[in-house]
Amino acid sequence: MSDTNDFLRGLLPQCHTNATLAEMSEYAADKFVPIIAPETEQFLRTLLTITQPANILEIGTAIGYSALVFRSVCSAKIVTIEKDVDIANIAHNNFQKRYREAGDNSNGIRIIRGDAREVIAQMPSSAFEFIFVDAAKGQYIYMLDDLIRLCAPRGIIVCDNVLYKGEVASGEYPAHKQRTIVTNLRRFLAEISDNPSLSTTILPLADGISVSVKIST
Ligand SMILES: C[S@@+](CC[C@H](N)C(=O)[O-])C[C@H]1O[C@@H](n2cnc3c(N)ncnc32)[C@H](O)[C@@H]1O
Repeated sequence: MSDTNDFLRGLLPQCHTNATLAEMSEYAADKFVPIIAPETEQFLRTLLTITQPANILEIGTAIGYSALVFRSVCSAKIVTIEKDVDIANIAHNNFQKRYREAGDNSNGIRIIRGDAREVIAQMPSSAFEFIFVDAAKGQYIYMLDDLIRLCAPRGIIVCDNVLYKGEVASGEYPAHKQRTIVTNLRRFLAEISDNPSLSTTILPLADGISVSVKIST
């Protein structure tokens, strides 16, 4: 990390976490489960505090860390999709634990186990006010039409890791292993930047994050 990044990470607040989130963050580090970076978490907290969406769609639950961050900031109903059944079961247990800890009986988070590309293609047009995409990076481009369809007017679509370790913005031809991911992310960023239904900003925050507001249907 650069000095600026180190400095900014040092300023991130500790006061918003809770026992379940702290445990989950340790578990993720121990077991090498990727979860949102601390900077991304704080950015999402700020965005959700401003927008207070009534409902959220998340693609890529993992152990449920980001979903519980959302839940701690707003009372949105959350639908989160995870294709790995074992990790989705861990997320389910974490949600139950957090409900007990917080005395929250609302069961406000629903996990759908399945491949998000197929799941969202089958979803009837609904109006998610906030969509967070944090799954296989090479697939974002194939989900885009459905994400736009499922997003409410003035709703927000946030996608994580869009700069993929700096590789997406580099002028280099991508290494064989990352070629599809990098090529698809470049196509995805070009598409969301120039799509007339969206107003998009791409930020070099953590691994890169895009924020698109749906401005027309
Ligand atoms: C980076 S992790 C998600 C982390 C989570 N958002 C958090 O911050 O706590 C990505 C997850 O997306 C899941 N995933 C990848 N491709 C998917 C797909 N097509 N459909 C559903 N889940 C997918 C992976 O199994 C993995 O658990």
